[in-house]
Amino acid sequence: MGMLDGKVALVTGAARGIGRAIAEELARAGADLALCDLQVEWLADTAKAVESLGRKAQCWAVNVSDSAAVNQVVGDVVKLCGKIDVLVNNAGITKDGLLIRMSDQDWDDVLNVNLRGSFLFTRAVARPMMKQRSGCIVNIASIIGLIGNAGQCNYAASKAGLIALTKSSAKELAARNIRVNAVAPGFIESKMTEALGEEIRKKMLDAIPMGRFGQPADVAGAVLFLVGDASSYVTGQVLTVSGGMVM
Ligand code: NAI
Repeated sequence: MGMLDGKVALVTGAARGIGRAIAEELARAGADLALCDLQVEWLADTAKAVESLGRKAQCWAVNVSDSAAVNQVVGDVVKLCGKIDVLVNNAGITKDGLLIRMSDQDWDDVLNVNLRGSFLFTRAVARPMMKQRSGCIVNIASIIGLIGNAGQCNYAASKAGLIALTKSSAKELAARNIRVNAVAPGFIESKMTEALGEEIRKKMLDAIPMGRFGQPADVAGAVLFLVGDASSYVTGQVLTVSGGMVM
């Protein structure tokens, strides 16, 4: 018996990187998956990986910042699976630039995906989860939302906002047995961080006490803890997964 046998989990940004690793980890623990992303082709690869672990996978091409589309997806999942036990708000983007040169568009784009998208999905699943009187929501924030970063005002604000959303929704939903927590990854090797230059990578590595970059599976393990019974009395928390970079 897996610890998530019979559970239905929705993961956003599941086409690649950390989202894909989370989807696979939840499937390995027994959950069936509702997979959401803009990138349908790669999403199909994640679905295959989930199915090869013996679990069901359904894919939705959805922009997480589109309110109507988000409501539609959550409605579809509840209709199809009868319930929704786990939501992981993982979809996220960066559009870096120094404050004085940051365009309105780059600010809005990052806030729209990282913060608004997570709000829309949280609001949409809250109703069915409240009816069920159970549910777990995990928001993938970032250490940048805790400590800030030059060149990432938009991203830092979106992730700090996501942490505040985590705590407020945890307070609102706790009485209905719905837990809401955040994971704040440090430097995780993925397409998002691949673009960084050698010099920055070396500087970051020097700042990580554990002496290695994180892997998507490191984040997935933390998510699994937060959606399982092992964390049944944990809500409104931010679990930092950074090899000790932020303590
Ligand atoms: P990634 O860029 O490899 O994957 C992000 C996924 O989100 C992609 O599949 C993309 O298509 C999807 N996505 C983007 N915008 C979307 C939208 N509007 N609607 C639906 N899907 C959308 O990134 P990675 O590294 O896997 O990051 C996943 C999450 O982890 C993000 O929220 C990111 O901010 C966070 N994170 C990543 C860190 C890292 O070092 N890689 C560190 C801290 C946090």
